[in-house]
Amino acid sequence: MRLGPLNLNSNLFLSPLAGYTNLPFRLVVREVGGVGLCTTDLVNARSLIEKNPKAYKLIETSPADSPLAVQLFGSVPGEMRDAALIVEARGAVSVDINMGCPVKKVVKIGGGSAMMTELDKTAALVRGMVDAVKIPVTAKMRLGWDDDNLTAPDLARALEDAGAAAIFVHGRTREQGFGGTVNLAGIRKVVAAVKSIPVIGNGDVVTPEAAKKMLAETGCAGVSIGRGAFYDPWIFRRTLEFISTGSLPPEPSFDERIRVMQRHLDLMIEVFGEELGCRMFRKVAPWYSKRFGPCHEFNKKVVQVRTRTEFNDMLKHYVRWRRQFLDEAGELLPRFQPAPMIASFMRDAPASTTREHIPVPKGPVEVW
Ligand SMILES: Cc1cc2nc3c(=O)[nH]c(=O)nc-3n(C[C@H](O)[C@H](O)[C@H](O)COP(=O)(O)O)c2cc1C
Repeated sequence: MRLGPLNLNSNLFLSPLAGYTNLPFRLVVREVGGVGLCTTDLVNARSLIEKNPKAYKLIETSPADSPLAVQLFGSVPGEMRDAALIVEARGAVSVDINMGCPVKKVVKIGGGSAMMTELDKTAALVRGMVDAVKIPVTAKMRLGWDDDNLTAPDLARALEDAGAAAIFVHGRTREQGFGGTVNLAGIRKVVAAVKSIPVIGNGDVVTPEAAKKMLAETGCAGVSIGRGAFYDPWIFRRTLEFISTGSLPPEPSFDERIRVMQRHLDLMIEVFGEELGCRMFRKVAPWYSKRFGPCHEFNKKVVQVRTRTEFNDMLKHYVRWRRQFLDEAGELLPRFQPAPMIASFMRDAPASTTREHIPVPKGPVEVW
């Protein structure tokens, strides 16, 4: 698909997930295949200008990590412009503006969802960035502040007029947080509001079928996937095949999940060093294990891992322990198989009466 001047290999995008969409994870997703464009975690524009090393670590990239968008947050037009110039100079192919972040520290300074309530000011900020850089400028927003203020269609239109090359929209309001159902009709309204730029739908896409439904029912040009990719880095490849051929590829085998998880750890160690990489991996590995079947033996031990050797020993032990749940062919016995993933907008019953299938990670990002 086209995004401004860019020709992307697929219309599937990796959403920014602060604390998770770092270089190792983006490389994993790219190696598995199917993703058209990956975005970094959100980065504070001012911190980039002030050369804060933590902000620079967030935009660390490598030749294999391409095409890459950097997401910026901030509300001072000059700072957003200068930060866009920095990320352009460092090889990002597009720059995204965070307009849907409900974290207090972002809203407090007028960024994130607060931007959605001030159309003219926000359009001017976007225009300043568009005029300064050659790469496309995109914006990511929620549907609005709450159900009575669904500002995304008007905002999307205003930003298109200001030169934005695409709009990413999470089909929930700020008030919803991560609860309730993703509103496909709301995304469709954003699609209808813009003249020609692509709108990319987002929210709760955890299966290829959910991506197809979002595309079909909203008319969006592409789909952006966050937590679904954390469960399942294969989601892009399987979705691409499903939407282009109509046939649904099987889920990855346990061995393939293990192979990719180990590769993920190797990349974490390469980028962050063994000590920090292993420590950070303690919160990554349990996402893989959610699809392993019985996994408490794994989760209990992985949170103590300090080295690659410890991880590999722990994994060997787990693989042996897991055998008790397998049949003769080495498949999980049916009663131990994990429940199928279901997007909020594909459930029959109202969300409040069904189990929430995609947890929002706890820890430093619990306020998302
Ligand atoms: C842990 C976490 C971190 C997130 N970080 C960001 C971020 O940095 N920038 C942003 O625009 N959205 C962020 N989001 C929102 C996601 O990009 C996405 O819009 C949301 O999770 C819905 O999509 P999903 O259901 O596919 O995850 C974050 C969400 C979570 C759960």
